[in-house]
Amino acid sequence: LQTLPPMQLADKYFQIFPEERDPLWQNPCHDKRHKDIWSKEKTCDRLPRFLVIGPQKTGTTALHSFLSLHPAITSSFPSLVTFEEIQFFSGPNYNNGIDWYMDFFPFPSNVSTDFMFEKSANYFDTEVAPKRAAALLSRAKILAVLINPADRAYSWYQHQRAHQDPMAVNHTFQEVVTAGPASPRELLILQRRCLKPGAYATHLERWLHHYQPNQVHIVDGSQLRSNPALVMEGIQRFLGVTPIFNYTQALTYDESKGFWCQRVEGARPKCLGKSKGRKYSDMTPESRAFLTEHYREHNMELLRLLNRLGQPLPAWLREELQSSS
Ligand code: A3P
Repeated sequence: LQTLPPMQLADKYFQIFPEERDPLWQNPCHDKRHKDIWSKEKTCDRLPRFLVIGPQKTGTTALHSFLSLHPAITSSFPSLVTFEEIQFFSGPNYNNGIDWYMDFFPFPSNVSTDFMFEKSANYFDTEVAPKRAAALLSRAKILAVLINPADRAYSWYQHQRAHQDPMAVNHTFQEVVTAGPASPRELLILQRRCLKPGAYATHLERWLHHYQPNQVHIVDGSQLRSNPALVMEGIQRFLGVTPIFNYTQALTYDESKGFWCQRVEGARPKCLGKSKGRKYSDMTPESRAFLTEHYREHNMELLRLLNRLGQPLPAWLREELQSSS
């Protein structure tokens, strides 16, 4: 019998089993063999019961802050690098392993009533995220927030302008969305980040490949913006969280912000920061028409998908399909 020093042995092993090079973390408590070698100090309960998966720019930060007001719901601890998002299933953090992930969650005080969650808005359209999430959190519930994908694309463009992305600063939105294959690479990257997450049905199908339809809830992001109390009630019913928290009392509309904010007794409402709910000019009718056309088939797919799932159609989807028919 021959052996090698650990690193060489590992190299050899992955040469023979290259498909095992990328880890796929599973819940150690779901397999007796894993549980038996899992340290006594550790618990499998420091994992979220639900995920807010995005996509970006649909109101996910507002949803995160509203959920955090609920006495029975607890969000993950903030990350020093990515703030309220952990971004575990979507990128290199995944290689840090599940102990790293679990450290973002408190030890639950009462396992059956505590609803821990995390929100990472780039999970939605990341290819590997559903597979990874389902391997570790097979029983989790999934919340996705959808707004008109044209508005999402425009909000992302404005976000990049605010962050001084030279492509967004030096090109109009129309130039970005209509850029052709001969355009500079950076412009095409921006275009892709504006447009790709908005192919909602394609991304949702990937999640539905790994999760049962009754584990997935579509949040109408436009309604979340205009009537958050109603939306929060629907979310609570979907999650099965009790008691139902009354958001009509917890939230107040702030005229100067132009959005719903947290009501604070005897003080000004607590709103999200300047980067959420930015002021910018309306999208031009030209870009609107281009994107209506661009997303027509994707939106039709979404309509079919929501009908199949028996989930209500967001008002923006009905309007968009009417205007494009
Ligand atoms: P804009 O800044 O383009 O208006 P996310 O948190 O997913 O990045 O989404 C940001 C968007 O959330 C904002 O985009 C804004 O329109 C929307 N939003 C919805 N409800 C909000 C609220 N109560 N406060 C601030 N922004 C809200």
